[in-house]
Amino acid sequence: MTTLLDLLKSKIPKSKLQFAPRSFDLIGSMAIVEIKDEVKKYEKQIANAIMQLHKPIRTVVKKSSAMKGEYRVRRVKIIAGGKSTETIYREHNVAMRFDVAKTYFSVRLSHERERVAALVKNKENVLVMFAGVGPFALVIAKKHPKANVIGIEKNPAAAKYFEENIKLNKLQNCKAIRGDVRKVIAIGSWPLASGQKLKANSQRLISWADRILMPLPKSAENFLDVAFKAAKNNCVIHFYNFGADENVFEQVREKINKAAKKCNVKIKILNEKIVRPYAPHIVQVCIDFKVNKN
Ligand SMILES: C[S@@+](CC[C@H](N)C(=O)[O-])C[C@H]1O[C@@H](n2cnc3c(N)ncnc32)[C@H](O)[C@@H]1O
Repeated sequence: MTTLLDLLKSKIPKSKLQFAPRSFDLIGSMAIVEIKDEVKKYEKQIANAIMQLHKPIRTVVKKSSAMKGEYRVRRVKIIAGGKSTETIYREHNVAMRFDVAKTYFSVRLSHERERVAALVKNKENVLVMFAGVGPFALVIAKKHPKANVIGIEKNPAAAKYFEENIKLNKLQNCKAIRGDVRKVIAIGSWPLASGQKLKANSQRLISWADRILMPLPKSAENFLDVAFKAAKNNCVIHFYNFGADENVFEQVREKINKAAKKCNVKIKILNEKIVRPYAPHIVQVCIDFKVNKN
């Protein structure tokens, strides 16, 4: 099978080939690639090679920064193809539209979304904090039509796409709330991203959730007190974090235990897993645990 490197051999000088990208992320008809400074002046050739390798690709976008800021968005630049940074991506029978320049999204979490969705039980109340354009919430709601799924997202652009994606997938059991999880859960009543009100039976999220997802690995520990508030007794929490690959689970367990002690709840660890490598010597992990509030 022809690889990207095979195609680049005739386009980039031999001395620079070691810096050429070996892979890229495919998001619908868009490719996202990281281009090192050493081969920056060949970015057009790299983009053309990517389009040659995968004919359905219409746009090639280059990462211009790491994910950053509260909204976890990266700067990107179109280097070939279309004019828009919006794309449509499909996984696990769900379609999602979003703009990679305005919202967070990672195709690399697809297996994790599938794993968590498989754990959800019939009629559960599922709260997705930090919901982004909705990938976890949508995949869960699609797989479990009797579950009641609520996602909270602060970035207005992401919350708007999340709301549109609920409509796109005709999901009746999924709601998008625009706002800061801390404020939304403390207030307990809020407008939906579309401006409608949430149904009376779900207007308070305190002690509401059978399952809570916390996919904000950079700082989810700052919101554990809020998650404990939203949790029913015996709620399962999926807690995401980054850590150095040595002793990572120990470090993350410590954060959870500290917050649990402060909030006077007991926790029981159910599962610990490395979700993906994130940066040199840094991994993204998930710890699943049960909360006892009695
Ligand atoms: C790492 S991204 C994950 C998004 C989504 N769950 C996904 O997997 O694609 C974290 C998201 O949390 C949002 N966020 C950060 N702080 C927040 C807060 N206090 N309340 C609600 N959302 C927040 C960001 O805007 C961002 O979209």
